[in-house]
Amino acid sequence: MKIAMVGSGYVGLVSGACFADFGHEVVCIDKDQDKIDRLHDGVMPIYEPGLAELVTSNVTAGRLAFTTLLQDGISGVDAIFIAVGTPSRRGDGHADLSYVYAVAQEIGQHLANDAVVVTKSTVPVGTGDEVERILRESGTTCRFSVVSNPEFLREGAAINDFKRPDRIVIGAEDEFGRDVMREVYRPLFLNESPILFTGRRTSELIKYAANAFLATKITFINEMADLCEKVGANVQDVSRGIGMDNRIGPKFLHAGPGYGGSCFPKDTLALLKTAEDYDSPTRIVEAVVTANENRKRAMGRKVLDALGGAESARGKKAAMLGLTFKPNTDDMRDSPAIAVAKTLTDVGVEVAAYDPEGMEIAAPLMPEVAMQDDPYAAIDGADVVVIVTEWDAFRALDLRRVKDLAKTPVLVDLRNIYHPDDVRGLGFEYISVGRS
Ligand code: UGA
Repeated sequence: MKIAMVGSGYVGLVSGACFADFGHEVVCIDKDQDKIDRLHDGVMPIYEPGLAELVTSNVTAGRLAFTTLLQDGISGVDAIFIAVGTPSRRGDGHADLSYVYAVAQEIGQHLANDAVVVTKSTVPVGTGDEVERILRESGTTCRFSVVSNPEFLREGAAINDFKRPDRIVIGAEDEFGRDVMREVYRPLFLNESPILFTGRRTSELIKYAANAFLATKITFINEMADLCEKVGANVQDVSRGIGMDNRIGPKFLHAGPGYGGSCFPKDTLALLKTAEDYDSPTRIVEAVVTANENRKRAMGRKVLDALGGAESARGKKAAMLGLTFKPNTDDMRDSPAIAVAKTLTDVGVEVAAYDPEGMEIAAPLMPEVAMQDDPYAAIDGADVVVIVTEWDAFRALDLRRVKDLAKTPVLVDLRNIYHPDDVRGLGFEYISVGRS
């Protein structure tokens, strides 16, 4: 099959490279000349494990190409995926669909053969209908079908998620759309990956419902963690205890500093807006959004408490380990680290930080924070060491060295990656999440 992927950001690039690896002929299109030039040179615009190798091998095999020209890229293809950004619109939280609609218009102007147009970007219910209207009004004489095919990739594990998905969701309104999508995903049919065919609007909603549900699970366990601290219980055992129930499941029950990233914060807000538009309140998601937002600064206050309170924290030094919203990415969007750092610097704490991949992007977002070349440099002279993101590199720190370097041996572990007895046994004051 021939596939065009419009938008070579995170979703477009991973999906395009994986489709090429399945044997399809793929052209990734992006308006950003610089990005396309760098992709031609094998330089990835994002950090994602395994992506550079996948792109290079498929370019070498002649199955993956890049262009800035949509007209050339979509010529003769069976399926055109729209994978451009849908950021939160400033002010009201609605998903900004201007990029999606601009691409639909351009496709309409240049479509010269029958093709399926697939929205892979996360788009609110009804966007497919609008894309269809735009294509129809473009006057194209080619046969087309607009299909929804949301992505469920996790940053840091995206290639595996694409190749071994829990499920593929396809929302199509006609047989042409279903047939082409069946061919596109044939390699995964052979893997016996479950494929759900449904209506287009349902498919669009599934994406938001999935992310909102996962965000709810995280927020729920975070609130349980707070309660654990008050009643003297252990949240990790609560997670295990409820997760062993198959109806609940063990995943996404790790208590921490709150969810961040490019998806959960934006998609929960967009779902609230859709619910508001349709006068169908989603009170649970509203509570999740508020609780998660409050939690990020609350984690900063937890660190201040470890420093003896806001008053005595002034002039003290904190070392932050991990800045990205989760490990194995350089993504800083809505990272809890931003709120934690701000809460500390607001009251005059000096913050030094280290992150394996995120510092370049983090630096302008937290100008008061001194970025260091390795974790121990950040820890040198610190009154408190804070683990914000659970990078593997922090799981086996040389704790004796940490103790020697720190001014006071206080470790705040916001991801519960250490065992309290081990750390306390070395003479640290150890504060974690939901483990009294
Ligand atoms: C999320 C979904 O997991 C993907 O299925 C979806 O495709 C993607 O959004 C998207 O809509 O594009 P992602 O944002 O990459 O993926 O990251 P996750 O691994 O889901 O983590 C999100 C946040 O939740 C992180 O800040 C993470 O630290 C936090 N989290 C996750 C927890 O605090 N506890 C958990 O148990 C799990």
